[in-house]
Amino acid sequence: MRTLITNGTVVTATGAHEQDVLLDGQTIAAVFTRGGAEAAGVAADEVVDATGRYVLPGGIDAHTHMEMPFGGTHSADTFETGTIAAAHGGTTTIIDFAIQAAGQQVRPGLERWFEKAEGTCAIDYSFHMILGGVDDAALKEMDGLVAEGITSFKLFMAYPGVFYSDDGQILRAMQQAASNGALICMHAENGIAIDVLAEQAAARGDTDPINHGLTRPSRLEGEATHRAIQLALVAGAPLYIVHLSAQEALEHVAVARGEGHNVFAETCPQYLYLTLEDHLGKPGFEGAAYVASPPLRTRDEPHRENLWRGLRTNDLSMVATDHCPFCMKDQKELGREDFRAIPNGIGGIEHRMDLLHQGVVDGQLSLARWVETCCTTPARMFGLYPQKGVIAPGSDADVVIYDPTARHTLSVDNHHMALDHSAWEGFDITGAVESVYARGRKVIDHGSFVGRAGHGRFLKRGLSQYLQ
Ligand code: URP
Ligand code: ZN
Ligand code: ZN
Repeated sequence: MRTLITNGTVVTATGAHEQDVLLDGQTIAAVFTRGGAEAAGVAADEVVDATGRYVLPGGIDAHTHMEMPFGGTHSADTFETGTIAAAHGGTTTIIDFAIQAAGQQVRPGLERWFEKAEGTCAIDYSFHMILGGVDDAALKEMDGLVAEGITSFKLFMAYPGVFYSDDGQILRAMQQAASNGALICMHAENGIAIDVLAEQAAARGDTDPINHGLTRPSRLEGEATHRAIQLALVAGAPLYIVHLSAQEALEHVAVARGEGHNVFAETCPQYLYLTLEDHLGKPGFEGAAYVASPPLRTRDEPHRENLWRGLRTNDLSMVATDHCPFCMKDQKELGREDFRAIPNGIGGIEHRMDLLHQGVVDGQLSLARWVETCCTTPARMFGLYPQKGVIAPGSDADVVIYDPTARHTLSVDNHHMALDHSAWEGFDITGAVESVYARGRKVIDHGSFVGRAGHGRFLKRGLSQYLQ
């Protein structure tokens, strides 16, 4: 099947270009200057007129949690529902976090993730590995996993007793990464101190959802980020900070980058738009929908402004969603009496491209930077480039046709995530995904899903291309 996309504006990390794109089977066969395909007499089975539309590389969401066990329940999206929702939003690849649970081995955790994802994903997928118990066996497994294309590992400085690693464990995992080329992804919050504050709040009777944020101060994200960077420098390992939310953390990343170190960070749409007071602090139990870690930050300090600036300056390399959806009913409700029992996570896999396009509309980001932070850098950061993340001959035919002038409103009534609420309810968006091709197959056609669960394949990844 050959598809020729004509008359569109191809947007890549290098800018906007008036070009036509030929898809042949699963790959991009050619990119022509406007009219070049016609002049060359290129034949196609389907010709798509993309006049007035952007033609983008498929989005890569490098931080998702499908069916993730947490606090006695599981995140609500399966690999099937979550990847279909992703496709609706212009994302054609996810990197999900497989879990080694505390007290268990690495391999069974990874195998469980393969079982869940195999034959169910609508788009391509890969895994990072969460190390929930760094010991000699886990360190040895890291080398094997890197050879098998799982080249990044997440460690937690938060959640004592669940996923937490102490500084010694972190240092040892970083030393292993320094020797095998892996990238360490860090959840940087001081979980020991947070647990003290949370226990004190509960003892005072402060049990509403907002206390989740009040007991996780931004300083403790800054402190953990600084500590993680120092440990990485001692180990000689690269470091990638996940879901960075606080300006204090960003400052430490910026200093390390300014000194030339291999320190990178992502942020998420929720930290760019939502706040402690307006969302986590909603009346009654409504704020539970916004409980995630790190928490939403106060609107009284310029966290959001600084994160947008970080995206522009490249101190923040990219944007992922940390999609970890829990319904209000039966899930978030587990913490009605005590915020500590609210499952942590916000769903948003469907809205990342749209929400970051708002940054373009609002003048926060250039068009090229939008694509770079959502599509190209994730591919390079996690060893998928140039198979993914770019519109170029030979790359996978992951292509999004995006209408920059369409308008729509985000709502639980029209989203495709398995969620009974939307953290983004009522957000007016300028721009909309029109059609999506995933490895050459049309999966979204004018807003309707026309793909197939099982089309998505596991992607073996190389080492991060920012380190080579
Ligand atoms: O609240 C969050 N972020 N839940 C998902 C797990 C994690 O820490 O990324
Ligand atoms: Zn985390
Ligand atoms: Zn996460």
